Amino acid sequence: MKDGVRELAAQFKAFLQSREEDELTPVGSARRERACTDANASETKQDHLTIEFARAARKNIPPAEETEKPMPQNPRPPQITGNEPAEETEKPMPQAPVSYTTVQEKQAALDEIAAEIGACQRCPLGQTRLHAVPGEGNPAAQLMFIGEGPGFDEDHSGRPFVGRAGQLLDKMIAAMGLKREQVFIGNIAKCHPMVNPANPEARGNDRAPNAGEIAVCRKYIERQIAVISPKYIVALGGVAAKALISDTKSLGALRGKFHLLHLDTVQLQTPVKILATYHPAALLRNPNWKKDAWADLQMVMAEMGLKRPHA
Ligand code: URA
Repeated sequence: MKDGVRELAAQFKAFLQSREEDELTPVGSARRERACTDANASETKQDHLTIEFARAARKNIPPAEETEKPMPQNPRPPQITGNEPAEETEKPMPQAPVSYTTVQEKQAALDEIAAEIGACQRCPLGQTRLHAVPGEGNPAAQLMFIGEGPGFDEDHSGRPFVGRAGQLLDKMIAAMGLKREQVFIGNIAKCHPMVNPANPEARGNDRAPNAGEIAVCRKYIERQIAVISPKYIVALGGVAAKALISDTKSLGALRGKFHLLHLDTVQLQTPVKILATYHPAALLRNPNWKKDAWADLQMVMAEMGLKRPHA
């Protein structure tokens, strides 16, 4: 009898050892089948032993906590070093809008901005300009025209769009049934960007303002827009359009529709719609673009309820 028990114990030990293999291989599962068949052939006592061996085997299973993987530790919270990138720590909140009740108040605010521009040395263009060109026109204009930056004639006079491109702009404004004095004309950059800054007296020395010049100067045009609070802006050329619409798409992709203006440094009191069109200097070089520019201006006229004056 004792021998029978010992034999059974050995059989079940073998059976329990084979369980691990069962999980992994069909061979193991075949072995279990065999062990089970042998066990079934045993007497009632053997069934009882089966249960006891199973309990014993279970007791040897290490506790769950030992087998579980440790929980990952929380990552250390970021330490503030003071060397974080500037854009994360220095992005200014746009200034709240100011209400101006009279045209005189708006003019006074624009004069103040013009005085700041006249003294500005925030970029190297301040060193080489002959005159700063803040912009001019109706302080309560419904419509603003904004170009990229002063050229030779503007640098010499201190007034925006007075050269050949300016004369064409005057014609465009007149074709809309407006006078120059009714609108406000300005630029993104307020000082003359030159190819060769050592020679401000040379013609053909103009260039578009670069990204850095636009970035330091944009607060001035934004403040001017906020004071004037126009309903519409016409951006003249790709440089002005991309800077104001804050979109890197080509002028071709931006023109032909109104965009809602968002400013970086000031909040607007009322929504401003902006439309991009060709720069008058580009129209002088490519007169076949004039019909598209005229179509753009007609969109503004339709919104403003303007009629083309009789010739
Ligand atoms: N081109 C511009 O963009 N602005 C001017 O004032 C003159 C020419």
